[in-house]
Amino acid sequence: VDLDSITGHLSDWVREYRTHADLRVEYPDGYDPILIRPDGREVDTWRLDYPYDNLLRRAEYDPTKRALQIELLKLQSWAKETDARLVIVFEGRDAAGKGSTIKRFIQHLNPRGVRVVALNKPNKQERTSWYFQRYVAHLPSAGEFVLFDRSWYNRATVEPVMGYCTDEEYRLFLRQAPLFERMLVQDGIILVKFWFSVSRAEQLTRFVIRDVDPVRRWKLSPNDLASLDRWDAYTRAKEAMFTATHTERAPWTVVNGNGKRLARLEAMRFVLSQVDYAGKNTDLVGVPDPLIVGPPRMAGA
Ligand code: ADP
Ligand code: MLT
Repeated sequence: VDLDSITGHLSDWVREYRTHADLRVEYPDGYDPILIRPDGREVDTWRLDYPYDNLLRRAEYDPTKRALQIELLKLQSWAKETDARLVIVFEGRDAAGKGSTIKRFIQHLNPRGVRVVALNKPNKQERTSWYFQRYVAHLPSAGEFVLFDRSWYNRATVEPVMGYCTDEEYRLFLRQAPLFERMLVQDGIILVKFWFSVSRAEQLTRFVIRDVDPVRRWKLSPNDLASLDRWDAYTRAKEAMFTATHTERAPWTVVNGNGKRLARLEAMRFVLSQVDYAGKNTDLVGVPDPLIVGPPRMAGA
């Protein structure tokens, strides 16, 4: 693994990994890669911040995922019949599992009623418009679900951390975001905001997997590598974001993303638990696991 040549400057974390030469990636049960040390042991950094001793096995994950996806289809039919609109914001550090969760959410939905919005960095015209404008253009109409893979919250996270916006723009965003979201919710939009959390060591493991595995290499962006050295800056940005934007109408829901499979299931369960749609299997949906999903721990709370 030569992350050195890509990034030029390395954190201690990467250096530590590089002392293990010949790391390799395995797909133990067909998907979800793991990193294997030269001595054959698995890199299990997920354990450092996880409430369980084991990750979810596929024998349990697969049927539960399917059952929850059937519930999501019921939610979609209900939305079409009642003209409901749903917005789900997926935020979190790089490699926290936003994209792979979105993939499972939409896997069996009718594509006519669901859109994933992952915007590129703003062009000149967008940069000089009202910040929220380009997101507004993608909001759902009657019966639609829109999943934002990153969102307007770029301006509370990547942008200030990487220096892509001014301090003034950042502060204005933190004031406007709750007002913006209040308008959405008052207009009847169902809004869910997820923060996928991942611990520092697990994030690095996932970057190394991206680097080692040829089919994942494209996922490793220069921003990812830059974020390795900006862990604390991201943490501060995240906390300021929660303080300013975790409101009664538009609360944040934090998902422990260190175990990818359980994170996906519990995120689905959380969305399903928010809506009283027709034909709901309440036994199956149940209550989201409070050890995996819950409100942010606020400083001073
Ligand atoms: P991802 O992790 O979503 O695959 P990146 O880590 O490359 O993508 O970028 C994170 C986010 O930062 C993206 O939403 C991207 O559009 C945004 N971004 C990248 N460069 C800039 C920039 N110069 N100004 C504003 N936003 C940017
Ligand atoms: C991310 O959170 O950066 C990606 O979406 C991770 C993934 O799902 O593979």
